Amino acid sequence: MADMEDAPKPDFRNGVALDALPDGGMVLGRIDTEEAILLRSGDSLFAVGAYCTHYHGPLAEGLVVDDTVRCPWHHACFSLRTGEALRAPALDSIPCWRVERVGDKAFVREKLAGPSPRSAPPAPRSTNTPTSVVIVGGGAAGLAAADMLRREGYPGAVTMISADDSPPCDRPNLSKDFLAGTAPDDWIPLRTREYYAERQIELVLDSPVSSIDVRQKRVQLENGKQVEFGALLIATGAEPLRLDIPGTVESQVFYLRTFSDSRAIVAKAVTAGRAVVVGASFIGLEVAAALRARGIDVHVVGPESVPLERVLGTEVGRFVRELHESHGVAFHLGRTVGRIDGSRLTLSDGTGLEADFVVLGVGVRPSIALAEQAGLAIDRGIVVDEYLETSARGVFAAGDVARWPDRHSGDRIRIEHWVVAQQQGQVAARNILGQRQPFNAVPFFWSQHYDVTINYVGHAEKWDAVAIDGKLAARDCAVTYKRGDRTLAVATISRDLRSLQAERAIELAGR
Ligand SMILES: Cc1cc2nc3c(=O)[nH]c(=O)nc-3n(C[C@H](O)[C@H](O)[C@H](O)COP(=O)(O)OP(=O)(O)OC[C@H]3O[C@@H](n4cnc5c(N)ncnc54)[C@H](O)[C@@H]3O)c2cc1C
Ligand code: FES
Repeated sequence: MADMEDAPKPDFRNGVALDALPDGGMVLGRIDTEEAILLRSGDSLFAVGAYCTHYHGPLAEGLVVDDTVRCPWHHACFSLRTGEALRAPALDSIPCWRVERVGDKAFVREKLAGPSPRSAPPAPRSTNTPTSVVIVGGGAAGLAAADMLRREGYPGAVTMISADDSPPCDRPNLSKDFLAGTAPDDWIPLRTREYYAERQIELVLDSPVSSIDVRQKRVQLENGKQVEFGALLIATGAEPLRLDIPGTVESQVFYLRTFSDSRAIVAKAVTAGRAVVVGASFIGLEVAAALRARGIDVHVVGPESVPLERVLGTEVGRFVRELHESHGVAFHLGRTVGRIDGSRLTLSDGTGLEADFVVLGVGVRPSIALAEQAGLAIDRGIVVDEYLETSARGVFAAGDVARWPDRHSGDRIRIEHWVVAQQQGQVAARNILGQRQPFNAVPFFWSQHYDVTINYVGHAEKWDAVAIDGKLAARDCAVTYKRGDRTLAVATISRDLRSLQAERAIELAGR
């Protein structure tokens, strides 16, 4: 991208030679004062905004697939015809212009009207379009579903009921920039208050649902209220596993799931000098990196011998450990915490550590209590079919709670990834409206440690071969996890296009 950024940007109003645009190719340039890209897909030419509406990823480094472009950073997908954000994590559209071919040149003309929720044509209606939709959960899947219901032109009541005391927020940021102090508070809510009002999405916060009656079609809130539904989406996510460590004083031990949790850690970190993170998980290690950015002395304790080995394998796990050590993190692996006495922690092997506070990141469990009580089919998560419908008709589940039949691995899987949760919310919304769209996206997640981001596509619980193309130490590689001849997953560092290509290859193989 350095070359692209440094080169003078062509003005698309003056025309671009078609020779410069091979099929699937794109050119970065500008239209008046806006940066844009000109693309070719087959015989069609498109001009769209240059940056993703999620985190401003450079779309010129993305991948063109048919009449869409995919973002290199977290794999959002945009329509080249309308600019619509077809697939999360981006929720807002990008600008789009009309392109005219004159002789052997392409000229960009006027800007097209973007898709707006209000002007979007109603989706084809099935006879069983629900009278109202209730979403239990105000997280990734819940918000993406509410957003999609309105985008699809659903006119009925949409109520989102959340146990959180804040509106749906950018949860992945809570262990990264926000915790490190480099993202302000106002980056964290996914949407403004006005957004909910404009779209008539009723947001009910700080209101845990205590039970669901699937026959009577109503949910019971802890505060005594009842809400009836035509269709229901359960998107209750997951909750941190709690450890009962002898001697623990509540004010000293923190978990991280909500905006309030992250704020509480920040408040503590402001005056603290030493922290222990229990759990060398993705979240635990991201917390370690964020606390190091604040100059805090960080020790990580975990029972495993190599961090993240179960998900990423031994080589990548060792690399991640060394990366953290090079930033001053001390590891105490193969051990657990036996006791906490004030600021002193005693590990299972007798080692003593001093800490002003402790963050526990030892994993999560899906929040399925409501679904169990409602009598829905459960198998280490809420069982859903390929349309994300549970064992009760008109009741859907999405996100961390849902176990679905994954077309790519052939297994029923449940995954705790932000993008998967949002994409499932979007697909569930369409299916609530009777569109019968199977959920077949290739799972994707990212994790950030200092200036290193690991992107991962696919799903590999067990593999029999790992192939590393490039060098981990150089922070430039693609790691392929295979079973037999089949590529199950690919992890990349600094190879974003490769990650998109791997996603596409897994997609095509699963058809
Ligand atoms: C700190 C942190 C960092 C993360 N970083 C990444 C990352 O970098 N990449 C990645 O891919 N994933 C990441 N994840 C995981 C990702 O955030 C989750 O997979 C995603 O949020 C799941 O979405 P969800 O909608 O299923 O659940 P959530 O977003 O957790 O939302 C669940 C909602 O349900 C509500 N709820 C639960 N029970 C009830 C009830 N009884 N009544 C009413 N409401 C209820 C909760 O209050 C919440 O609003 C991270 C998670 C955390 C906590
Ligand atoms: S920046 Fe484009 S998907 Fe995140």
